[in-house]
Amino acid sequence: MSSGPPAPARRRRRAGAWGVPLAALLAAPVLAAAYPGSLRIPREKGEEARMPSLPQALFSHRTHASFGCFVCHPSTFPQAPVAFTHSDMNEGRRCGHCHNGTVAFAVAGTACERCHAPGR
Ligand code: HEC
Ligand code: HEC
Ligand code: HEC
Repeated sequence: MSSGPPAPARRRRRAGAWGVPLAALLAAPVLAAAYPGSLRIPREKGEEARMPSLPQALFSHRTHASFGCFVCHPSTFPQAPVAFTHSDMNEGRRCGHCHNGTVAFAVAGTACERCHAPGR
């Protein structure tokens, strides 16, 4: 295909001008993967055996999008998969920071599958 003479310098400059927007386009899917619409919270080590059929809790960035990133990161959650338990939440940490019956529905007394949702 490209067995002809080398492209004139003018053409090479044009390709350079497209380089930046092209790099931004290629980077977009990487950013989307780093900010998942929803994710499973990892189960704490040693807790796997308690209710093995219970799906790991599902957290949705989409349904929490009314909050700015800094409401949760880095104070309540790191931007990385990290395990925690109901004890943490009962003491007001992690999801329990809001799911306390005041800001949002409480963890205790809510149907388990609301958070431990099966499927995806
Ligand atoms: C209501 C709280 C909340 C808000 C608001 C929030 N996040 Fe998160 N985010 C979480 C939770 C919970 C996790 C998972 C932490 C865990 O695994 O324990 C998480 C995880 C992440 C991760 C790591 C994903 C992974 O799988 O490694 C990234 C990146 C991230 N959030 C980015 C963002 C960005 C960007 C925003 C704003 C647009 C945002 N978050 C807003 C709660 C929130
Ligand atoms: C407000 C959301 C929410 C509700 C409602 C909820 N859980 Fe959880 N649960 C979590 C999160 C988050 C974790 C940590 C991730 C994981 O292990 O799935 C968790 C973890 C667990 C664990 C692992 C051990 C532990 O103590 O953390 C068990 C067992 C569990 N939940 C059982 C239940 C049962 C049974 C119900 C209903 C009576 C329930 N959960 C309701 C969010 C919830
Ligand atoms: C910054 C406060 C805040 C934090 C932190 C937070 N939530 Fe929520 N969440 C809310 C509010 C507000 C609503 C909507 C009001 C309601 O339903 O009571 C909500 C709604 C939900 C819903 C119902 C909508 C849906 O996605 O199906 C689930 C499930 C849920 N949260 C799970 C979690 C889990 C699991 C965590 C921890 C990993 C968490 N939330 C952390 C404030 C928060």
